[in-house]
Amino acid sequence: MGLRQDFELFCTATSLRGVAKTVKAPTRPLRCIWTAYVAAMAAFLVTCVCFIVTDYLSYKTVIQTTVVLNDPGLSWPAVTVCGHYPFTESGRQLWQSGQILSPTNFSRMLRAHALKMFDAGNHIGAEEILASDSKRVYYQNLEPDDAEKLSHTAQQLFIFCINATGSFMEMSSGDGCAMQLKLISLPDYFNCFQVQATPTIDSLTVVLRVTDSHHQHGADPHEQAFVQDAFQQASGFRVQLQEHDRFPEPTDRGIHVAPGKMVEMAYQPVRLIEVGSPTDACLPETIASSRRVLDLGRDFAYSQEGCLRQELGRIVLKACGCHFADLLRETPPNATHPYCGDYRRGVEPVLRSRACLQSLNLPSLRANLGDTHCLKPCHYHDFEMVSSKTIWRAADWQLHWLALQAKSFRDLAEASERLADLTASSEQRRQAEASIQSAKNSLRDFLTAKNLTAISGPQVLEPSGRDFAYITVRRQTRNTIQKTETLSLSFSALMSQVGGLSSLTLGLTCAFAVELLELCLLKRHRKKVSKASEGCAEVADNSLVPQQLQQQRGMI
Ligand SMILES: *[C@@H]1O[C@H](CO)[C@@H](O)[C@H](O)[C@H]1NC(C)=O
Ligand SMILES: *[C@@H]1O[C@H](CO)[C@@H](O)[C@H](O)[C@H]1NC(C)=O
Ligand SMILES: *[C@@H]1O[C@H](CO)[C@@H](O)[C@H](O)[C@H]1NC(C)=O
Ligand SMILES: *[C@@H]1O[C@H](CO)[C@@H](O)[C@H](O)[C@H]1NC(C)=O
Repeated sequence: MGLRQDFELFCTATSLRGVAKTVKAPTRPLRCIWTAYVAAMAAFLVTCVCFIVTDYLSYKTVIQTTVVLNDPGLSWPAVTVCGHYPFTESGRQLWQSGQILSPTNFSRMLRAHALKMFDAGNHIGAEEILASDSKRVYYQNLEPDDAEKLSHTAQQLFIFCINATGSFMEMSSGDGCAMQLKLISLPDYFNCFQVQATPTIDSLTVVLRVTDSHHQHGADPHEQAFVQDAFQQASGFRVQLQEHDRFPEPTDRGIHVAPGKMVEMAYQPVRLIEVGSPTDACLPETIASSRRVLDLGRDFAYSQEGCLRQELGRIVLKACGCHFADLLRETPPNATHPYCGDYRRGVEPVLRSRACLQSLNLPSLRANLGDTHCLKPCHYHDFEMVSSKTIWRAADWQLHWLALQAKSFRDLAEASERLADLTASSEQRRQAEASIQSAKNSLRDFLTAKNLTAISGPQVLEPSGRDFAYITVRRQTRNTIQKTETLSLSFSALMSQVGGLSSLTLGLTCAFAVELLELCLLKRHRKKVSKASEGCAEVADNSLVPQQLQQQRGMI
């Protein structure tokens, strides 16, 4: 039996609409019309399916925004504060005693190197060296511990910390902050602090000390340096709100806070839930929460930026043998692996490091890593913030009494706790009693004061002055805006679209696959039969097949 008969047989029996007519229609023109119809429909179907599948494979998404009322999984941002002027009085003493390279000596060292180049006729080299006369390169010329010593401690920086839940406020003062603080050492700011409060609070206020206000610009003989920083120098702070315990990027994402002003940052928490797809992958929450990033011995929760900076830091360290200050320092810089901008080892190594850094092409490495090792997390929070500022109208005597009250009541509570502890030694008991007595005396002073403005003892701060910065971070609502990403064309939608199109055009269903299978099986069966009866059975065989097919069709 020939191929043509097979084909005709198949056409008459198939479930595809119109195909049977291409064979069975009584006249030739009719058969032509039906053939043209089937061909056109098949072409149309194939084109449309191609478009739909391309659309599906581009994994387009839509974002659905809902509001979670009174969100139980509420988050509170970590607040990172970095002083624009990093140095303190105690740091200045370290310069004076010659223990730590002072900015003046740093600048002299640079200029001496530049002069040598200049005399040798290398003008470009001299210019390059002079471009390093900045705070961030100075940072790289210090031991990491020394850089921390030069800048403020939490005690020096934080004057008041107040957290409020509803209308209930808790204040701490005098001894830094009773909240969890994390120190981060950055080249542009030296010591930054991240205030990590519990997520249940509604507002957080910190009053910070500004150290440069009494300090006449250029008056200090140790600070004749940083010519290149002229347009980056400022007073006050840089503040960033971000997810809890992430490595901060204050320069890229922070805002300025001016000294002598009361600045409020009101934020709206936003939760983003993304879907991972082959074109836009993301890191599932379980994996992201198990990964950490490390900087100078302090570890942080996973963030894409943190991971990128850590990986790039590793690459630079391996390729150039030095730490690039913009990136994370997984191991602390040491004598054999210093910062890339460390001029203490001479000019040549710095220029070599710089050339090496340029040859690495960090932006393309960064793009690669962002798609592979350092994916963005699928779940994260964003804090949409508006900030506003005004003048703080407190009086110094109010602050004095408030600080005294807070301290006395806290001392009382602490000392009573110690007294109640039966294992305390007699010495400890004596101390506890003394502190209770002094707290009681202070409180009595306040309770019996006739003239509250007449205060004795050191002033807490002058609210009308400029040597403080006042920052309030406030949650606008306890609701969270949730943005959930979903695929705009899911797999089931793809199937139903393809199914709809196929039945619209040719009536193509999955049964067609079974028909093809049936055709193959029948062919094999017929071959076996014809082999067995060698030619004589041909007629019988012919009559057998249509009958079987008829039966099958009846079943479908
Ligand atoms: C810095 O320079 C001063 C002179 O201005 C000098 O007395 C001091 O020893 C130098 N310190 C260092 C660490 O080089
Ligand atoms: C609020 O701050 C106080 C100290 O100022 C601290 O003891 C307390 O734990 C804080 N409360 C919350 C909920 O963070
Ligand atoms: C210096 O740092 C490098 C890179 O982290 C490390 O391999 C090396 O052991 C360190 N050297 C010393 C003396 O600690
Ligand atoms: C309260 O004390 C201040 C400062 O000592 C003084 O200037 C003021 O006159 C006093 N006021 C009264 C009502 O005594």
